[in-house]
Amino acid sequence: MSITDEGEYGQKQIDFLELIWGKGFLSPGGTTEVDLVIEGLDLSGLNILDIGCGCGGAVFHLIEQHGAATAIGVDIEPLVISRAKALADEYNLNDKASFEVVTPGPLPFSDMQFDMVFSKDAFLHIPDKESLMADIARVLKPDGIIAASDWMRLDDNPPSQVMADYIAAEGLDMHMCSLDRYSKALAAAGFSDIHRCDRNAWYLDLAQQEWKSMAAEPLRSQIIDCIGKAAADETSNIWRKMIGVLEIGEHRPGHFRAQKLR
Ligand SMILES: C[S@@+](CC[C@H](N)C(=O)[O-])C[C@H]1O[C@@H](n2cnc3c(N)ncnc32)[C@H](O)[C@@H]1O
Repeated sequence: MSITDEGEYGQKQIDFLELIWGKGFLSPGGTTEVDLVIEGLDLSGLNILDIGCGCGGAVFHLIEQHGAATAIGVDIEPLVISRAKALADEYNLNDKASFEVVTPGPLPFSDMQFDMVFSKDAFLHIPDKESLMADIARVLKPDGIIAASDWMRLDDNPPSQVMADYIAAEGLDMHMCSLDRYSKALAAAGFSDIHRCDRNAWYLDLAQQEWKSMAAEPLRSQIIDCIGKAAADETSNIWRKMIGVLEIGEHRPGHFRAQKLR
């Protein structure tokens, strides 16, 4: 039994990823990485949309530590939204944080509704980057900001065999593209002041540490308790393949930020 057999972000996947990456997070780096994505921005009083919010870790951080007025998290997976809502209850943040299940496609929001769109490691699941950036421009106010982290690729050529093997091992619907493709999509959608940041070296180092910790106690036993031994071995194998494609530089986590022209 694989941890994606019950859905891409089913209960086992959520429990496992929160164990590795921290409460409320289904992506690496936690609040420190969120801080880097928005470094230098003043979020006080802003209304923010988080696309692919997962269990809400970034939404809570943007409100509690950066003074966002409201943050709406959207995701296509009902179980991650249930978990985000439970955490909003636990943190007593229901007045400022809200979460909605959406269907893939155009965002169910009015034009010029948000001051900022945030996203962390979710756009890789959305194939049409050009339509996505145009829709984000639509829901942003003039001068609004997009600030995102994503798992990208070195270029937009067909994946190498090792990259294809890694993506197959993940068992997720992954459409990783280059930072260049995002830059072009942002410019075409009417964004300017595009800033980019490559995070390959950072995540290569962290992923190697994660892989070692996953094989050692106490984490190994915690993972087996959470998802069973076969799935624990499978996830270790996924990390090994992921480290391989990080090492050759084809898997390139990164950040980008841009401002909507008036
Ligand atoms: C790697 S997780 C990251 C979650 C969260 N941003 C975090 O950093 O913890 C990717 C998330 O994107 C969501 N997702 C996939 N396709 C989506 C879509 N078309 N629209 C919104 N969310 C999507 C998945 O359900 C999943 O929760």
